[in-house]
Formats: sequence, C-alpha cells, structure tokens
Amino acid sequence: MFPQTRLRRLRRQSLRPLFTETQVTRNDLIMPLFFVEGATEKVPITSMPGQFRWPLSAAADVAKDLAADGIKAVILFGIPKTKDAVASSAFAADGVIQEATRAIKAAVPEMVVITDLCACEYTDHGHCGIIHESCDGPDLDNDASLELMQKIAVSQAAAGADMVAPSCMLDGMVMAIREALDAAGYEYLPIMSYSTKFASALYGPFREAADSGFSFGDRSTYQMNPANGREAFRESLLDTEEGADILMVKPAGFYLDVLAQVKELGLPTAAYQVSGEYSMIKAAAQNGWIDEKRIVMESLISIKRAGADLIITYYAQDVARWLA
Ligand code: PBG
Ligand code: ZN
Repeated sequence: MFPQTRLRRLRRQSLRPLFTETQVTRNDLIMPLFFVEGATEKVPITSMPGQFRWPLSAAADVAKDLAADGIKAVILFGIPKTKDAVASSAFAADGVIQEATRAIKAAVPEMVVITDLCACEYTDHGHCGIIHESCDGPDLDNDASLELMQKIAVSQAAAGADMVAPSCMLDGMVMAIREALDAAGYEYLPIMSYSTKFASALYGPFREAADSGFSFGDRSTYQMNPANGREAFRESLLDTEEGADILMVKPAGFYLDVLAQVKELGLPTAAYQVSGEYSMIKAAAQNGWIDEKRIVMESLISIKRAGADLIITYYAQDVARWLA
C-alpha cells in the first residue's frame, strides 16, 4: 500500500474543511435553564461558573437572549417554593416549570421548550418519585410514581411545553406518560426519554443548581450501573418499544460507546453533557490549564461523532456565539 496510500494528502490546510465528517451547528444545541419560584434576582451557581438560577421574571429576557444567539431549544428545570413527600408542586397548574414554560412561549413562540419531567426537585426526600418501604428499606415505589409522572406530564403539556423529557428512570415510564398524554389530547407531543441514564457522580454540581440532593440512600436503585453497557442498550430498546420519540444517553462524554450503540436503534438520539462535565472543563479552563473553547468544541464534536443528533449542554449559548 505505502506510499500509494497517503492519508496526509487530504490533511492540507485548504482541504481539511472539505473533508470534515462531523460538524456541530446551533441547530444541535439545547440549553438547560433553572427557574426558582419566588426568587427576585438571578443567583450564580457556584459549582457551575457562568450558570445561574433564574427568577421567573427573567424568563422572557433569557429566552430572547438565547434566541438572539441562535439557540432553538431549551430544557427547563424548576425549583419550587415548597416540597412535600408526593411532589405536589410538580404538577400544579401554576407550578414553577409550568409558569416558566408559559413565559418563554409567550415571549419567544418559536423557542422549543422541553420540560424535564421528574419529581426530585419537588420532593422533600429528594428522590425521583414516591417512596415506600421495600424489603431493603425505603425505596422508590415504581408504579405509584408512574401515576405521578402522568400528572406532571399532562400539566406540563397544558402549560404549553413542546416536548416532555422524563428523567426518573422508572420501569414503564414512557408508556405510562404516552397513555396519559394521549388521553388528554396531546397525541402529537413528543417524548424525549432519558432512556439510558446512569447513576453518575457527574451530577454533583446539578444538585446544587436544582436544590435536589436526597435525604437518604442514592439513586442506584433506579438509575443505571455505569459498568453495564448491554443493560444500557436494553433500557433504550425498551423505551423505543414503549413509544419514545427521542432517546437520550446521560452523561455524554464518558458514555460514547453506549451512545453509538443506542444510535443503532434508529431513533433520533440526544446526549446530555451534564453538570460535572461542564464544571470539570470550566475549572481547568479557569486555572489556565486547558484551552476552554477548543476543549468544548472537541467534546461536542466527539459526542456528535458517536451518534448524537442533539446535545444538551450548559455551553450551548457560548458555542452558539463562537459559531456565529
Ligand atoms: C433529575 C435530573 C438530574 C439531572 C437531570 N435531571 C439529576 C439526577 O438524576 O440526580 C442531571 C443533570 C446534570 O447533572 O447536569 N432527574
Ligand atoms: Zn429526578
């Protein structure tokens, strides 16, 4: 073969752009936002420099600012005033995520609003649903929690969400939500399922951002063991069968093998570059140890190359500006 085959021929600077296989565009990016009920000003998230917890009164301006930079979609998290054992404020018609959705849709109708559909920010124990006593002690009651997810889904749809994104990792989550949405007349509302979500230490900074730490145990009885690749595929396969419209792998960067496999199911695929991934890059960049822009772009290109059609990232607005 050598020297007839010389791959360096196409690496000349002028030719490189013509043979770039993977590109990240602003259409691929989804920006996560945190809204705090009752807040009056924006508060920096100390573990995620550059990110904020927003008051509801800022929702319209935040959405306009993102739209001006070419961001087309946001995913919303709500931090309620009151929490209880059964996450009542998660499905309140005037709940924080419902109000944020209304405000953004009113200000920027073309902004795609995706609502994170879970209970952990709304429960006083901090778990992603309703708790019961299992043979191993207190644990998530799967089927009772599904009914809760149905109520949250319908309330988010009624507030004007364009898409719901269930993140609770309950068995049967997608089917239950699909049934509830259809029964309420939302047959065309897509479900972006957090179909393969690992019990990851990379969610650490998010728990400060969303005020969602738990009072006992951890999430390992519902989120996946990071060691299990085949089971990860099965989780996304099941959600496909249950009617998910979009699959998601979370976190992204450490799980690119899983993402590549999930992509083979043929559905649109999203990946969530989570809080810990953001904070690690940010901390190293602030220390002057890495080139932030280059690292962020390399991380996102890698996530796309592995199979993501969409990337949820706290860097979305920065990247949109860099690409402009
Ligand atoms: C809640 C939820 C979490 C994240 C998104 N939705 C935290 C968790 O499961 O503990 C993590 C996002 C991030 O770390 O950026 N179900
Ligand atoms: Zn949760």
